[in-house]
Amino acid sequence: MQEAFAEVFPYRTEYKKKSIRSYVMRAGRITEGQRRAFDTYWSQYGLSLFDGPLNVRAVFGREAPLVLEIGFGMGDSLLAMAQAEPEKDFIGIEVHPPGVGRLINNAGKTGVKNLRVYMADALDVLNDCIRNGSLDRFQLYFPDPWHKKKHHKRRIVQPEFVQLICSKLKTGGQLHMATDWQSYAEHMQAVLQAAHPLTNTAAGGGPVERPAWRPQTKFERRGQRLGHGVWDLLYRRLPDATPAQRKPSEHD
Ligand SMILES: C[S@@+](CC[C@H](N)C(=O)[O-])C[C@H]1O[C@@H](n2cnc3c(N)ncnc32)[C@H](O)[C@@H]1O
Repeated sequence: MQEAFAEVFPYRTEYKKKSIRSYVMRAGRITEGQRRAFDTYWSQYGLSLFDGPLNVRAVFGREAPLVLEIGFGMGDSLLAMAQAEPEKDFIGIEVHPPGVGRLINNAGKTGVKNLRVYMADALDVLNDCIRNGSLDRFQLYFPDPWHKKKHHKRRIVQPEFVQLICSKLKTGGQLHMATDWQSYAEHMQAVLQAAHPLTNTAAGGGPVERPAWRPQTKFERRGQRLGHGVWDLLYRRLPDATPAQRKPSEHD
């Protein structure tokens, strides 16, 4: 059965072995339309983790501000952003094949040119494919909250993750996260606050109003139906501190 499926659907989520993952690989159903989308559009929109460092100029045929989003889900909001900001290039990363299929189908039908996707674990893509200092904006919207305390280690937002994102941002680049779980928002803020090359763009140091570039997402609407709030956090990457500016640490 599995082999027969592999013959009709040979596209696989790419990842390397790791002890803790921020997602569960579900055998999510691929619709006939999504399957056809892979056959028709994967060669146009798909990128592979195993091709190594991404040459953005070769892929998009131009130098343009680069936006990267992790966990785009079904992809409607990412597509809307790529359409609304044609002067920027967008890279989406998602492990869930039905969402990737839906996004490339809609992108292909509307002829969007400034979008590419990895169907892969985002940590692997960040480590192996995205060059340091290359991102103008990083987006993470409504990541899995992993509410149970014993699962908190699966939350994608951890100090090492934020340091990795910082290394990929240009100086002045934006880091934008949103969640509908207050406790996750507080955790995100604590981690971002402690990341030294970042500064909060909110005047009062807390969340911001939803920026104009972010449409509502599917998970956000679901949260709102359940009565959840929404917290948008927007930080900016500062230049690396010079040795004189750096605060002494316990390692000094
Ligand atoms: C709760 S959903 C939110 C989807 C979308 N951003 C929205 O707001 O509707 C989180 C998504 O992140 C994806 N995800 C979680 N960890 C990931 C990882 N390490 N790499 C790529 N995608 C990941 C999941 O597959 C899921 O689609």
